[in-house]
Formats: sequence, structure tokens, C-alpha cells
Amino acid sequence: MSTVNTAAAAAAAPATGPAPVIDVDPARHRSAELERQILRAPERFRVMTGDRPTGPLHLGHYFGTLHNRVRLQDLGVDVFVIIADYQVLTDRDVADRLTEHMEAMVLDYLAVGIDPERSTIFHHSAVPALNQLMLPFLSLVSVAELNRNPTVKDEIAHSRQSSVSGLMFTYPVHQAADILFCKGNLVPVGRDQLPHLEVTRTVARRFNERYGEVFPEPDALLSAAPLLLGTDGTKMSKSRGNSIPLAATADETARLIRSATTDADRCITYDPEARPGVSSLVLLAALCLDRDPHAVAEEIGDGGAAALKRTVTEAVNDRMAPVRARRAELARDMRYVRAVLRAGNVRANEAAEATLEEVRKAMHGVV
Ligand code: TRP
Repeated sequence: MSTVNTAAAAAAAPATGPAPVIDVDPARHRSAELERQILRAPERFRVMTGDRPTGPLHLGHYFGTLHNRVRLQDLGVDVFVIIADYQVLTDRDVADRLTEHMEAMVLDYLAVGIDPERSTIFHHSAVPALNQLMLPFLSLVSVAELNRNPTVKDEIAHSRQSSVSGLMFTYPVHQAADILFCKGNLVPVGRDQLPHLEVTRTVARRFNERYGEVFPEPDALLSAAPLLLGTDGTKMSKSRGNSIPLAATADETARLIRSATTDADRCITYDPEARPGVSSLVLLAALCLDRDPHAVAEEIGDGGAAALKRTVTEAVNDRMAPVRARRAELARDMRYVRAVLRAGNVRANEAAEATLEEVRKAMHGVV
């Protein structure tokens, strides 16, 4: 069992009542089957995953996705990690401090254990052939389909911009290019990314039907990762200023946790529905300690928010200490960090150019 799973399983279970006997969720079923296949034949899979470089990666990323990427890599799966720099422009006019954010992200990846010898770290704007796939792909989806994407709808609703750009509207198609340029066939996702993966599958299927078999239809690998709330009790997010960065110092971590929202009930329990603030802190400690959140809560008992925050701070700082030490060490040699990204870009360009060549050949008979 991986570190995430004990706490994740508890977090995913309903607050009351027995666990359901039959899992009715098809995406979860499929993911469980895929996990078995990965163990049997990791070399059959190419994972495609990534992040937008909008700010420092935080503990939500660590327990939600980073940890899982390293696990897959260590199982022998070929992992591609994209720093989605063009995607930054979906909901803002300028990509602020892009180089700084990208380099910080590479540092975070390396510090958590993504190994550039085995995995490929690269960014959108360095891979022209990837971006070129966007044009044929756009021709394969209708405006009505793009309009129905619930995640894009939600992002538009929360966007700080007064109008919706064409890039915002079409970025799931760009993401299809991110995944398909290297024939990624496995995409670890949270629920919010499932509609995007459907777009990718549609694009792959229609391309193959129209022009001949070129692309795999990638599978979503739903993570069991629980949702960590930020220090204000809403979703932990780079842009909301409520996150605990991976790279925070022990003191910064203590200060951020001290400021977290709790409630007046001294008895600490794990009850995400009724007590989201307290429960998220309990969950964070449980994830760091690789323990069950109910047991962690019980141990703190009547200690109140102060004892809870002490426990969480210590758990986070202990768990993150090696990652942070490694990150600090790597940060002393930024030339190396930049070289990792350059080498990843070279590998990504090779894959993108080979795929684009296949696409050209396949389309030639038709257009
Ligand atoms: N949309 C993803 C996010 O916001 C980032 C991303 C871009 C991505 N391209 C991708 C994830 C391709 C998986 C595969 O987190």
C-alpha cells in the first residue's frame, strides 16, 4: 500500500453507514483494472500528466498527484510531465513570472523524486509540433461539444476576465494535443479533469476513423486522492493564497497552519461534512503520518484546535523535511535544473515530430 492510500481510503468512504458493496462508478472500476495491468506490464503504459505554471506547487499537489507520479515512475511506467505554459493564458492576459514559476516547478518535481533519467519534464511552448496538432484536432470537435464541457464552464464562471478567450474555450483540445503528441495512453486525473479526457478520447477516435489508426484512446486513471482544503476551508489552490507550498520553510508552515480555519468544538473529530476545516487538518496530518484520520483525531481528542495544529505542523514538517532539503540542495545548481528541462524538451520534440509526421501521412490521402 502506498502512503496515500490508508488516509485516502478513509477520506473517500462515506461519513456514516457501511461502505457500498458494489462500486457503481465505472471510471473507478476501470481505474482499478488499470492498476492491475500496470503491475503486470508497466512498459505498456505511457503516462501523460502536468501542471500550469501559475505558482508554487503545494501539499494538495503532493498528496493529490505528485506522489502518484513518482509511484508510477518507480513501477516502471514511462512518465511525461508537461509544464503547461500556454494554458496559463486561458484565464489571464499575461503569463506572469513564467520562467521563475517553471524553474520552481522543475525543482519541486525533482525534489519529490521525479527522476529525469526515467521521466520526461518539458513545457508546451518549447514543442512546436505538439502545438501544430491543435489545428487538425480542432477540426474534429464541434463548438456545441466544446460548449458543454462542465470544467471549462466552471472555470469561465470563476475567471477574472470579462470575456472568454478562444484559448479558454478550446484548451481541452490543446490538452488532447498534450496527451496524444507522445501517444500517452494513461492520464492520472482528478474528477474535474474527466471531461477533458473525454475530449481527448473523442479526438483520437475521430482522427483514427477519418484518417486511419494513429492514436491510442487514452484511459483516465482516477486517483483515490482526497481533496485537501486550503487554510481558509475552501479548495487548496495556487491562486487562492490558501495553500501550504511544498517549498515552505518549517516556520512558514507553522504560521500558515496557525492561521487555518477551525471551529469552537474542543473535541477533535474527523467529519469532513460537518467540520470541513478541522477535518482537513486532521486529514493532512493523517496523510503525512500515513495513518487513518479517525485514529489521528481520536488521539488528539479534547486537545482542541491548538493541539490539532501542533500535531499537523509537526507531521507536515517531518514528512516534508527530506523533500525540502533535497529541493534546497538542487536549487544551488540552477544550471542543472535548466539542463533537465532542456533535455526533456528535446525528447518531447522528437516524439512530437514523429507523431506529426504520421499525422501528415495519414491526412494526405484525404485533404
Ligand atoms: N489542465 C491541467 C491542470 O490544470 C494541466 C494539464 C495541461 C494537463 N495539459 C495536460 C494534465 C495534459 C494532464 C495531461 O492541472
